[in-house]
Amino acid sequence: MNTPVKVAVTGAAGQIGYSLLFRIASGELLGPDTPVELRLLEITPALGALEGVVMELDDCAFPLLAGVETGDDADVVFDGVNVALLVGARPRTKGMERGDLLEANGAIFTAQGKALNSHAADDVRITVTGNPANTNALIAMSNAPDIPTERFSALTRLDHNRAIAQLAAKVGAPVTDVSHMTIWGNHSATQYPDLFHAQVGGRNAAEAVGDQQWIEDTFIPTVAKRGAAIIEARGSSSAASAASATIDHARDWLRGSPEGDWVSMAVRSDGSYGVEEGLISSFPVTTRDGSYEIVQGLDIDDFSRGRIDATVAELSEEKAAVTQLGLV
Ligand code: NAD
Ligand code: LMR
Repeated sequence: MNTPVKVAVTGAAGQIGYSLLFRIASGELLGPDTPVELRLLEITPALGALEGVVMELDDCAFPLLAGVETGDDADVVFDGVNVALLVGARPRTKGMERGDLLEANGAIFTAQGKALNSHAADDVRITVTGNPANTNALIAMSNAPDIPTERFSALTRLDHNRAIAQLAAKVGAPVTDVSHMTIWGNHSATQYPDLFHAQVGGRNAAEAVGDQQWIEDTFIPTVAKRGAAIIEARGSSSAASAASATIDHARDWLRGSPEGDWVSMAVRSDGSYGVEEGLISSFPVTTRDGSYEIVQGLDIDDFSRGRIDATVAELSEEKAAVTQLGLV
């Protein structure tokens, strides 16, 4: 057996945590040969509920679960962590403006970025799921100057998976026939799910659909507003699917994207495809052994250019807002 990998999960007593922890402990993140030690961070009032979750983890008798530590102090919980899944965030509440949300989360991700910088293992990889995910990742990255910037990412894999499911349903193909899906930009309603580089059964997806109107009026808004549709239907935001996507994202980053395909990850832009350098923006990437490469050389037509520019403009505005608040 390998030595245990330390995986931190924040917001561990929350909805996503309740699905995520059990899947990590069962080996879905690191594989069947790697034991895992869970490091679970919560705010003080949620530590009681978290103890209940830990009791349930114990009761599963997972063979790969080498230990669980809980706490409300990031400096302690993040000690030596190899993987950090930053799920916990302050939800938007009634009367809260977007600026208030950025500020509340800015405080959380500033502190967590600093704690990771001081205490995480040298090989740490960080994924932000908590919203606004891209800008929270930017704040954490900006507060962790000793951690290489390519170790920070934000989750757009849920959007990626949603786009695969919508396309497969439209053309009547299994999801396994869909490849080369890309989400560009922000994990928000401005995101651009791109069918022009995607494939179904090896054929260009936009051609297979053959209906530009459906792409513009149905596909893109359905994927981009799926989170809101789930909140409307369920009364709370997506949890099991968000946990599943968080596993997909971190697993592929650590263990490799599927051969001959790519995945979507929000990572620090190096200026590829005209995306302002330094923003955490979603790109098509290939991954291997904890590294990623942004796929290069895709032709971007006028339609895609406009959509990418719009979502990147939103990221740029978010960056300006948190810069003004002194968070980055
Ligand atoms: P939740 O409210 O059920 O749980 C969040 C947990 O985070 C709570 O238990 C809370 O106590 C904890 N928390 C708050 N501040 C914390 C801090 N400073 N340190 C540690 N823990 C803290 O929410 P959820 O449904 O689990 O969702 C979590 C986040 O994920 C939300 O921001 C949600 O919007 C986001 N989300 C993102 C995606 C995505 O695709 N990126 C999808 C779904 C949900
Ligand atoms: C989602 O995409 O399901 C969530 O990000 C929605 C939300 O606002 O929590």
